[in-house]
Amino acid sequence: MDMKSKLWTVSLMILCFLAFGCNQTKKDIPEAPATRPAAIDPNPSGAYLSPEESMKKMYLPKGYHLELVASEPMIQEPVTICWDGDGRMYVDEMLSYMLDVNGANENLPMSRIMRLEDTNGDGKMDKSTVFIDSLVLPRMMLPLDDRLVVNDTYSYNLWSYRDTNGDGKADEKKLMYHNDAKDTRNLEHQRSGLIWNIDNRIYLSRDPVRYRFIDDQLLADSFPQDPDGQWGLAKDNYGRLFFSSAGGEVPALDFQQNPVYGQLDLDDQLIDSFDAVWPVTGTPDVQGGSIRVRNDSTLNHFTSCNGQSIFRGDRLPENMEGDLFICEPVGRLIRRAKVINKDGETVLKNAYDHAEFLASTDMNFRPVNTITGPDGCLYIVDMYHGIIQESNWTKEGSYLRPRIQRMGLDKNIGRGRIYRLVHDGYKPGPQPHMLEESSSELVAYLDHPNGWWRDEAQKLIVIRGDKSVVPALKEMALGEQSFWDKLAFWKKAPSALGRIHALRTLEGLNALDKDVLFQAFKDEDPQVRKTAVWISETYLKKNDPQVLEKLEPLVKDESADVRFQLSLSLRYSQSPNAQSMMSELLADHPNNEILTASRKSYEKLKRSVSLESKIAGMSDPQKDLVREGATIFSQLCSTCHGSDGKGTASLVAPPLAAQQRVNGNQDVMMKILLNGLSGPIDGKIYPDVMPAMETNSNEWIASVLSYVRNDMGNKASVIDSNEVKKIRKETSGRKNAWTLKELEK
Ligand code: HEC
Repeated sequence: MDMKSKLWTVSLMILCFLAFGCNQTKKDIPEAPATRPAAIDPNPSGAYLSPEESMKKMYLPKGYHLELVASEPMIQEPVTICWDGDGRMYVDEMLSYMLDVNGANENLPMSRIMRLEDTNGDGKMDKSTVFIDSLVLPRMMLPLDDRLVVNDTYSYNLWSYRDTNGDGKADEKKLMYHNDAKDTRNLEHQRSGLIWNIDNRIYLSRDPVRYRFIDDQLLADSFPQDPDGQWGLAKDNYGRLFFSSAGGEVPALDFQQNPVYGQLDLDDQLIDSFDAVWPVTGTPDVQGGSIRVRNDSTLNHFTSCNGQSIFRGDRLPENMEGDLFICEPVGRLIRRAKVINKDGETVLKNAYDHAEFLASTDMNFRPVNTITGPDGCLYIVDMYHGIIQESNWTKEGSYLRPRIQRMGLDKNIGRGRIYRLVHDGYKPGPQPHMLEESSSELVAYLDHPNGWWRDEAQKLIVIRGDKSVVPALKEMALGEQSFWDKLAFWKKAPSALGRIHALRTLEGLNALDKDVLFQAFKDEDPQVRKTAVWISETYLKKNDPQVLEKLEPLVKDESADVRFQLSLSLRYSQSPNAQSMMSELLADHPNNEILTASRKSYEKLKRSVSLESKIAGMSDPQKDLVREGATIFSQLCSTCHGSDGKGTASLVAPPLAAQQRVNGNQDVMMKILLNGLSGPIDGKIYPDVMPAMETNSNEWIASVLSYVRNDMGNKASVIDSNEVKKIRKETSGRKNAWTLKELEK
């Protein structure tokens, strides 16, 4: 760069800096309280309202406003949206969802994905094309580069679509993940998500599987437990996922650890009656019926929670960043939750007291998704559909059906709105043009203040597989600056988030070397260290002794987040050193709830995984019987017989593991369980006796015995509850415990 252009750049940058500085001062606005109407209407009308009228029915904290981005007739029945690297919006429309109260024609291939553009920059979409048509209720979209991956309801296949001639219609369709099996579950119980997370894995809200983009294919990788999510999947800046379950009426779950480590939920993770919702209108169409409604006729508990997201943008007040938003379309509201870190445990709290961030009195307001946009604002997808419940629950004789019909909700179809949430004093950011930009230009966005840009840049570099940027990525990961950047005093060194994305991009390119990783273990920011520990799993799986050694000091890390991640990642090492690091971690922090709870759930998971392999050949009811027995055993029998059936340290009872009698005559086993047993056993006298368990049901006894006979080194027949019934009858009237002598006759 010559002197003149350097000067120009300098003055330009000073200008930007000043402009940016002014914007900054507005950031520290105080939180405004939620707003509510003076009275609740217990019998609201179900009448259709125009977008403008509907927006007047919404209650938001002072300073916040909605802007209409798109609405009917341009879009209809939107359920989720996303953007490509050039900021074009794709709208997923479920055009056949509940067209009447019976769900007629629901599975016809008539749904579509629209592509919307704002060509004059006024914030409203003015150009639309049908990008893909004739789909069956499309439920997941993932933009790659100029390709969009789409999944239809009832299908496991993932197709990518591309518009090769620029007419806004996809004309190329390729299979990226192939599985022709049919998903036969109700459409409400099938997966959603397809979110490219910071770890370059693509996650779903349910089914124990995630994908990775490799050589233009999506490769599946499975994990041991099925996440319990439903519609919607949120990720935060650091790759934490948040699930929701409308069926279970649980607004947020499985967010303590990545699903690959198994499910983990703690009793105190949702605080201050988080489950209670605060609508601003009567809510008569609640499937749960009157128990779900307060005296003032409002919904009293989450029931359709979905479409959650973490706000990761930079064009709303700073105190919104990192907050979790959860839609509740039956309550016609959107919850805003504070995400609190309590010594490594993640805890959620409603941001408002007995109120919600956004609530509407328009009965057709049906928020079903929220998402941070390229412009740094929060987007809200309002399906604006009268019925929000699949026909399985609106049948003749159901609670819902007459309520839907009375309000005429079944008549409101073919509409939908997309809103942008803005705040006084903040301007939405500019449109991206990343698809044409070089990978080195993209590297700079890895440190963008808006998470959407960071993610998009990382994803595009990984998809391109462009290793020319590896040196720049390494510099960024190490927090280093180039010569010119150092001279430019106003340029900040890469932020922690920038360093994290640089590390992840390197990992995604298979270009991370150990030197960079070891530096990251020592980074000043705990989230960078945590990321590095997470990434180290690749090496731990290969039993790399050097990596394990470099991880050792992190056992004493001051951050609970880092220590918790370490405890999770150490699972992948077979080395005895890893075991002792793990024991040290647990011994140092015996009262750290997340650490101990996660460890406990891991032990349980390990047992159940090994059990699954043992019962693989059984019928489904037999499998359930044995699984249930495993739970009974761990809760009751293990106290005397030891959790592995090998007896406890003080040997109060004989071992059941790999035991001849346990594998032998099943009638003897049933008698012992029903009436108890008194020693000696094989010449040994135990301090306790085997208590009679006859007060339990036949099924219970069959269950625990079937388990004992098929785990812990035993392999014998499963016991049917009818057989227990028979033995119970034969031995009825018996009061005393058996002795082996009697039984062996
Ligand atoms: C309070 C302690 C205790 C509990 C709880 C207990 N057991 Fe026992 N169990 C014993 C003792 C002690 C014996 C050996 C009898 C004796 O020495 O009097 C025994 C014996 C047995 C035997 C016979 C072992 C052999 O060598 O033939 C079986 C089978 C058995 N228990 C199964 C179970 C199952 C299944 C459960 C849980 C449903 C259970 N026990 C719960 C203490 C217990």
